[in-house]
Amino acid sequence: MTSQKPRLLIIGAGGFVGQHLARKAASPFDVFEADLAPPSGANGLAMDITSCGSVDTGFRRTAPHAVVLLAAVSDIDQCETRPDVAEAINVGGTARVAEACARISARLLFISSAAVFDGARHGYRECDTVSPLSVYGRTKVNAEELIATLLPTAVILRLALVIGLAEGSGTNAMLNKFAAKLRAGESVSLPDFECRNPIDAGTLSDFILELFGLGGAAGIFHLGAKESISRFELGVKLAEGLGFPANLIQRQTQPLPGRAPRGLDHFLLTEKIRSACQTPVPSCDEVIERAIYGSPKSNS
Ligand SMILES: NC(=O)c1ccc[n+]([C@@H]2O[C@H](COP(=O)([O-])OP(=O)(O)OC[C@H]3O[C@@H](n4cnc5c(N)ncnc54)[C@H](OP(=O)(O)O)[C@@H]3O)[C@@H](O)[C@H]2O)c1
Repeated sequence: MTSQKPRLLIIGAGGFVGQHLARKAASPFDVFEADLAPPSGANGLAMDITSCGSVDTGFRRTAPHAVVLLAAVSDIDQCETRPDVAEAINVGGTARVAEACARISARLLFISSAAVFDGARHGYRECDTVSPLSVYGRTKVNAEELIATLLPTAVILRLALVIGLAEGSGTNAMLNKFAAKLRAGESVSLPDFECRNPIDAGTLSDFILELFGLGGAAGIFHLGAKESISRFELGVKLAEGLGFPANLIQRQTQPLPGRAPRGLDHFLLTEKIRSACQTPVPSCDEVIERAIYGSPKSNS
């Protein structure tokens, strides 16, 4: 470790958001990428956040100044069918990482979700009372509460929907699956009754890095586009942007049976992050354009 740059440990670095963040963070930080399956490269390491030994070994090896915790069961339906696993990773794993950060005074940024709210009204501020509908949302609420107790200096960044492309399959990046279906000539059904303010993974990474640069930033921040959009409208715009006919996107008007409950309107208000950060909060159209053109390899 001869570099003079501060060391950033990204946990969950092999996933969708982690791939984008690792590329962008490489200039200001010495980046260490941890995940269940170690990401390729000299600074990739295996870490299971449900294991104390694994977390301790990873922290000893990397001695991070800053940590971004992305590792989670991020699939809402999987959390609903395996609540024990979701609890162990999303809550127990978060506690283990927060304790490890507290021991060495590393700064922690944790990614949470708009699913902490029920989505029954339009517009949520950081101080609003949480009201999760799903197991996933409840695990995020519990993780936030643990972090606030164990490490009050941590930043908790809530997001409604992240869009963008990931390298390879198997991540939570919806755009990869969406584009693959359209390429195969298949139609995609999307709900016109679920609205979100999305953020692209590249812009999200810019905000994460700026929040780390602001010594005093702590507590909960909301991030998303300036306006919200239905998943159906978002799908139409993404299809057109990718060069596919808009009529491949079909309007879904009823929730599908057997899926985890989802809030109808997850619009996160962003006044707090706008006044803390210089990075501009983008419009929905800017988010869509960046999601299509910014791949993990091209956004550094
Ligand atoms: N994408 C969104 O729209 C969105 C919106 C709001 C909040 N978030 C939150 O943002 C974070 C990153 O999301 P993402 O979209 O990048 O998800 P992702 O692609 O699923 O990435 C999560 C990564 O964490 C890893 N992981 C799972 N269990 C682990 C464990 N026990 N120890 C270490 N690593 C583990 C996963 O590995 P495996 O794949 O091998 O399990 C995966 O590589 C998550 O906390 C998610 O809840 C995402």
